[in-house]
Amino acid sequence: MTRRSGILQAIRIPLLVTSIAAIIPVVCWAGNAAPPNQETSPGAAGEKLVKANDCSSCHAPDRPVVGPSYNDIAKRYQGQAGIVDKLAAKVKQGGSGSWGAVPMTPHPDLTDLQLKEMVEWILSLSGPAAAQHEAPAKLYTYTLADGTTAKLDFPLFVEGQQPKVTKAVFHGYEMFDSYCYRCHGQDVTGSEMAPDLRNSLKMGMTEGQFLSVAMAGRAEKGMPSWAGFLSEDDIKQLYEYVKGRSLDLVPVGRPPSEMD
Ligand code: HEC
Ligand code: HEC
Repeated sequence: MTRRSGILQAIRIPLLVTSIAAIIPVVCWAGNAAPPNQETSPGAAGEKLVKANDCSSCHAPDRPVVGPSYNDIAKRYQGQAGIVDKLAAKVKQGGSGSWGAVPMTPHPDLTDLQLKEMVEWILSLSGPAAAQHEAPAKLYTYTLADGTTAKLDFPLFVEGQQPKVTKAVFHGYEMFDSYCYRCHGQDVTGSEMAPDLRNSLKMGMTEGQFLSVAMAGRAEKGMPSWAGFLSEDDIKQLYEYVKGRSLDLVPVGRPPSEMD
């Protein structure tokens, strides 16, 4: 084996490492996505900082994610005296109570100047308030082992090709068995370290609640925050995989997928 192919081999083996590396740049690229004509407009520095940090894991301009939309934040606070310092301090310390019970994670590594620039950009927005209702989604019906059916607003399987799972569910499986399994059990089978997420979903945990816990974490109880590391889409795919496991439709182990 040549030295070079030895190196290539060594690169291919740690799949886990490559998938972490694949996720991190996605988060960072967003920071460079601002169109060039906005470079010089006021607030451009703040916008860049917001996009380069973990904010997008929990916020979007025009719809609530884990936290309120930027437009709604601007609408509530625009023009209030001393508000920039107040909100900058809130982002630094994190916490809940202004919009609901879900906490924002703290951001101790951002400087006061950076925080102010970010808040100023958010407050400069004047888009429409977040839409409250989305169009009803298409429903997918699956028959469970006990003969009853489950209706989901996303597909678990490639249409007409069950048991081949969708790309999203397969990616959910890969991420679960890279990042979540060591506490929540291999293939979502539960463990003593953390709740069995199949049960959490059976007890009625919604996709939005799943996203909130996954992004905000529960630091004091040993559940890490995945904001800035996993995207909203990643958590959606994790949820879809866990849902498939909780309904016993997706098997343990590597599920068959359309890539096979
Ligand atoms: C883990 C999810 C999460 C991340 C990451 C996050 N936020 Fe938040 N953010 C929230 C939640 C939840 C709230 C609502 C908190 C509340 O109800 O008091 C919030 C509220 C806010 C508010 C309004 C605060 C208030 O008291 O009304 C601002 C401004 C804000 N976030 C900016 C940011 C910025 C800038 C970043 C990135 C540096 C960021 N957020 C990252 C979840 C998050
Ligand atoms: C270091 C251990 C650890 C890892 C890794 C971990 N979790 Fe957790 N998780 C916990 C613990 C502990 C709790 C229970 C917290 C509590 O008591 O409220 C929890 C709770 C949760 C809950 C809420 C369950 C409920 O019924 O309230 C969700 C959702 C969740 N985790 C998702 C995830 C996802 C998704 C991943 C992988 C991206 C993950 N966790 C990785 C330890 C972990």
